[in-house]
Amino acid sequence: MTSIQFRPVALEHASRLINHGPTVLVTAAHAGRRNIMAAAWSMPVEFTPPRIAVVIDKSTYTRELITASGGFGLIVPGAALMDLTYAVGSASGRDLDKFAHHGIDAGAGPALGMPVLEHGCAAWLECRWIKEERSEQAYDTFFGEVVAAAADARIFDHGHWSFTDANADLHTLHHLGAGKFVVAGNQIQAKVPAGQQT
Ligand SMILES: Cc1cc2nc3c(=O)[nH]c(=O)nc-3n(C[C@H](O)[C@H](O)[C@H](O)COP(=O)(O)O)c2cc1C
Repeated sequence: MTSIQFRPVALEHASRLINHGPTVLVTAAHAGRRNIMAAAWSMPVEFTPPRIAVVIDKSTYTRELITASGGFGLIVPGAALMDLTYAVGSASGRDLDKFAHHGIDAGAGPALGMPVLEHGCAAWLECRWIKEERSEQAYDTFFGEVVAAAADARIFDHGHWSFTDANADLHTLHHLGAGKFVVAGNQIQAKVPAGQQT
């Protein structure tokens, strides 16, 4: 697969992009500095407005850039980016420019200018930081309102995921620990419960 087919995702569907718990890349940029790290711990917390939570450790450079800029990007990497995902989660941007070091091709999100990646990725969300000092201090948990989102239409279209053999490179990563991942796949559909409409 070579072509990228990113399309905007309606904000009402943004929660679905991380509903299944993929490992994400968290990005931030401020005053000419930018950074990227891996995060296994993120989740949606609200449909409308779409809000998400992600754990960002106090030691990270990413956290410094989020609090300085007021925003962050959440990128959903595909299986083909497993090594990159692990690498950006294993070194700090304080020590090296991870974008240059790994040759990461990033654009700027349309709402906040946060770094977004499309090549090899299933989706991205751009989030405005919602300051919640107590959660940040006590649990390293950051909240964000999704203000823009997009996905590769080959795997997420009209609000629905479609994991198939043809888009295997874009199947999402799920961290087991210590660099081991499982890749999402084998999508199955539950029967509509009797009396309910689709
Ligand atoms: C697969 C994976 C998942 C990770 N998940 C998280 C996470 O959810 N929260 C977190 O604070 N750090 C997590 N980390 C660690 C950070 O990515 C790591 O500390 C990173 O080097 C921080 O980079 P920075 O200092 O450039 O921001 C994870 C690392 C890996 C490899």
